[in-house]
Amino acid sequence: MKQVMIITGTRKGLGAALANHYLDKGHIVAGCSRSEGSIEHENYSHYQLDVADEKAVAQMVRSVARKYGRVDVLINNAGIASMNHFMITPASNVSNVFNTNYIGSFLFMREVSKVMVRKKYGRIINFTTVAKALNLEGETNYAASKAAVESLTKVSAKELGEFGITVNAVGPNPIPTDLINSVSKDKIQNIIDQQAIKREGTVEDVIHVLDFFMDKNSSFISGQIMYLGGINS
Ligand SMILES: NC(=O)c1ccc[n+]([C@@H]2O[C@H](COP(=O)([O-])OP(=O)(O)OC[C@H]3O[C@@H](n4cnc5c(N)ncnc54)[C@H](OP(=O)(O)O)[C@@H]3O)[C@@H](O)[C@H]2O)c1
Repeated sequence: MKQVMIITGTRKGLGAALANHYLDKGHIVAGCSRSEGSIEHENYSHYQLDVADEKAVAQMVRSVARKYGRVDVLINNAGIASMNHFMITPASNVSNVFNTNYIGSFLFMREVSKVMVRKKYGRIINFTTVAKALNLEGETNYAASKAAVESLTKVSAKELGEFGITVNAVGPNPIPTDLINSVSKDKIQNIIDQQAIKREGTVEDVIHVLDFFMDKNSSFISGQIMYLGGINS
């Protein structure tokens, strides 16, 4: 069945690949990014906004709900990383990372949940990372912001369970996108060496997890964090 989906961070990287995939499958996708959108499709609409902008997020979700009467799936993909020793990390960097990764996910969840509650149905999927599970050095703020996203996932799953809304999170291992451009080959290899299955991840690996969480039959699966590559927390 055709799903009405909101996917954040769809200009490039995983978000763009996910949006294109679900559009190809016949779903309706509303996406967003700070820069202009990059996807042209009859079932796609783009909203140029910062996910941490409370007013803009509320307006986008209202606009999608008005247009389609519902939102079935929210994928909180937009995210930024910060790879620095914490001793040389300015507070502005910490705010940026938390604003995008945590506050952005929180705002979209809050607004979309209000729409999903009316239909007593919804699937929310957040993005975490193996950097949190592995406590990777040099990624203090990134890992901490995703730890916050994991808590958001687990607590909100309890608060939304009675409304037929599930909340889960996927935690990819390294997947070649701009996000990890600045990470050295050695560091990537070091992460891969800690995985049960020793390779980089792919968009298809992520889609497989998203499809599982999105499935109507996954109504009894909520508050779960699924890392890729065989990483455990
Ligand atoms: N790639 C990996 O190895 C990896 C591993 C683990 C987890 N992840 C997670 O996967 C998700 C996607 O990462 P990616 O690798 O696809 O990153 P990416 O290639 O850097 O793309 C990030 C996307 O998010 C958008 N974005 C960033 N900040 C935003 C903001 N404040 N408001 C609105 N949109 C914003 C960007 O567009 P604009 O710049 O135009 O805003 C872009 O479309 C992130 O949550 C990341 O933490 C990735």
